[in-house]
Amino acid sequence: MTSTAPAPSASPRGQAADVVFADVDKRIGDKVLLAGIDLTVPHGQRVALIGPSGSGKTTLLRLCAGLLWPSRGSVTVLGQTTGELRGRELCRLRSKIGFLHQQDNLVPALRVAHNVLMGKLGEWSVPRALWSLVAPQQLDAAHAALQDVELGDRLWAMPGELSGGEQQRVAIARLLVQQPRLLLADEPVSALDIRLGREVVRLLLDLAARQCTTIVSLHSLELLAEGFDRVLALRAGELVFDGPPAQLSRELLQDVYGTEYRTLHLEDLNL
Ligand SMILES: Nc1ncnc2c1ncn2[C@@H]1O[C@H](COP(=O)(O)OP(=O)(O)O)[C@@H](O)[C@H]1O
Ligand SMILES: [Mg+2]
Repeated sequence: MTSTAPAPSASPRGQAADVVFADVDKRIGDKVLLAGIDLTVPHGQRVALIGPSGSGKTTLLRLCAGLLWPSRGSVTVLGQTTGELRGRELCRLRSKIGFLHQQDNLVPALRVAHNVLMGKLGEWSVPRALWSLVAPQQLDAAHAALQDVELGDRLWAMPGELSGGEQQRVAIARLLVQQPRLLLADEPVSALDIRLGREVVRLLLDLAARQCTTIVSLHSLELLAEGFDRVLALRAGELVFDGPPAQLSRELLQDVYGTEYRTLHLEDLNL
């Protein structure tokens, strides 16, 4: 296989990395989902995670989020080793991590304002969160975040009244309110057309510019041109490329994607 390039932009000396995988395997039953992953993501880096379906992208993101634990090796996120955390410690860590799923997972029965304010749940006490359903707390924060995603006039809409792209932007507004230190997004644009996809990726990277580390798994490779510092490619659970987007080549992508290669949109990539 193609040689693995060294990771770009190592963290400045003395600065802790936000994500560290040390020789990580993830198995479920007999199935190997990830094997031998070593990875260090310094604070503030914007990482794109690519690979064909079933290559382990979602599994890797879920390990970063503390939603799965490694079968071997260790995963350290924001200075804490996920396998050692329980209960409240784990909740506290998760509250610092924003996760944008493939489906926007808004709560359909709650108005946009309440959905956005769910970004505050990790910070608020239970009584405050419940009271917020009656008298929304920090409505100005929700409104400002919605303005950032150009939905300032939809504060009181129901999610069902919005298009798929607008719902995804509400989910991003929720992340803006949460102000995560680590932002994970799992194929956030696969359900959208490419123009909307580009907008969503730009919003995510804007959010990243506010000092958070970002890992985004992408199905459409044309979005790689949007300003990622680093690309990780997975194939059958193994990390087969780790380097800047400029080092990607058609040969490498052909090797990584196999029969899926023909379905990739590579026109906008300067390969
Ligand atoms: N809970 C599970 N049990 C067994 N196999 C799983 C489970 N979740 C995912 N897999 C398998 O692990 C592999 C990697 O899955 P996933 O991380 O979802 O890949 P991707 O996100 O790149 O499509 C796939 O072959 C998938 O079928
Ligand atoms: Mg997936």
